[in-house]
Order: sequence, then structure tokens, then C-alpha cells
Amino acid sequence: MAAARTLAEAAVSVLAAAEPLEKLRLTEAAVAAWEAGRIAGIGDATPPERPARPDQPVLVPPREVPRRRIGREPGGRIALLHALAHIELNAIDLAWDLIARFGPRETEAALPRAFFDDWCRVAADEARHFGMLSARLGELGAAYGDLPAHDGLWEAARATAGDLLARLAVVPLVLEARGLDVTPGMIEKLHRAGDEASAGILETIYREEISHVAAGERWFAFLCQGQGREPGSAWRALVRRHFKGLVKPPFNDEARRAAGMSPGVYGYFTGLGS
Ligand SMILES: [Fe+2]
Ligand SMILES: [Fe+2]
Repeated sequence: MAAARTLAEAAVSVLAAAEPLEKLRLTEAAVAAWEAGRIAGIGDATPPERPARPDQPVLVPPREVPRRRIGREPGGRIALLHALAHIELNAIDLAWDLIARFGPRETEAALPRAFFDDWCRVAADEARHFGMLSARLGELGAAYGDLPAHDGLWEAARATAGDLLARLAVVPLVLEARGLDVTPGMIEKLHRAGDEASAGILETIYREEISHVAAGERWFAFLCQGQGREPGSAWRALVRRHFKGLVKPPFNDEARRAAGMSPGVYGYFTGLGS
């Protein structure tokens, strides 16, 4: 592929790549080029409504995704790692969609270079996370695509395609924050099953995901400030309007605080906040 001239073009080329390995390769190349100053600017390119995806896995309603007990038998661990790999593949596309969809459009919000630096770094992290999980699936005799998966994450992207503040409110600040709540329990189960290799991968992902939620929090506050809105009440209003699921405990307050989230804000939906 010829080198992309702008970051938006690079983002769209990742979104248009169906094969995971190609998505990873293009992501690594684009982020390296951006960080080395070899990409001229944000530019303008239209992201597809849906990113290209491989033929497998088939997408099914969430309740049809296999969930099995995590134990010494590999089946449950494979199902877990497969579901997480699918989330990470979506997360690669979500980072690039954010850049391509909102970067060119929000020039009046004067998004600084640091905004794009952050979401490029997130894209690179998600690509690495997918790579680690799919390599581990391989060690367990499985591969990404072997099991069905669901499309919930892209539904959230569609629901927030019109508004950057809504996208940040839902994707990093509801969905990725929810990942922080549930990951320690998964790590614990993997340790108990004696699968230290998988547990170690989830520990790395968990640490890095805190920084993704922190980026969401930082840019959400930045944009609210530009619009003269109070971040806490703006977040609640956007979640109520754009997110169909529940924001529910148990919350991982320690990780959420490390990401800059305030219990008084996210606890609101459960009557725990103010
Ligand atoms: Fe990730
Ligand atoms: Fe992430």
C-alpha cells in the first residue's frame, strides 16, 4: 500500500481492511508514521458505516455467544479469550473510526495534536492486545473466528456516530470502564485454572486499558470545557440518551479512579452517586 498522506486516510485504510493481520499491519505502520511525523495532517476521508471484517466469526445475538466455565478444560478459556479477541478487534476499529469520523469534522473544537496522539496510541495498544490474545488462542489449539461473536460494540459506535461527545461518553467511559470492572475477576479465574500465560496477557491488557479510559475522561472534559458544559451532568445526559444497557455495579473504584473517573458521577445510575 502506498503511504497514507493524512491520518484520516490511514484510519480509513485500516477500517477497510477485512483481515485481522492486515488491520494489525496497517495500524502499526500508520501509528509509527504518525509518531515519526511522516503524516502531514488530519486531512479528510469518509469512514465506512461498518468496518470490513473477516467472514469468520459469524455474528449472532449476544445471548447466543458461547459462555463456558473457566477451568482446567481449555473450552471455557478458549471461549473467554475468543470473546476478548473480538472486543479488541472492534476496539482497533473504534479508535480509527473516532479519528476518521470526528477528527476532520471537529476542527472548530480545535482538537490539538495530543488528541490524535492519544487515539493512535490506543489503536496501537488494541492491535497488540488482539495479537496477544490470538497468539494465545493458537497455543490452545484454537483461532480467532472459530466461535460466534456478537456485534454489540459496533452497535454502540453506530448509536454515537453523530456526536464525538456521545462517542466518548459511551465507548471509553461506559464500555471500556466496564472492562476495568470485570477483568480482575477473569484474571483470578485464569490463575485458579492454572493458566498463567492467559492471566498474564489479561494483566497487561488491564493495565493499558486504564490509560484508554483516562484518555476518554481527559478528552471528554476538554470538549465539555469548550462547550461550557459541566462534564458530570453532560455525561449522564449523553449516556441516558445513547446507551441502551445499564451502568451497574460492582464498580472497580480503584481502577476507575486511576483513570480519573469520579464515583459521584458514574454511581449516579445506581443511586450511589449524587
Ligand atoms: Fe484493548
Ligand atoms: Fe481499550
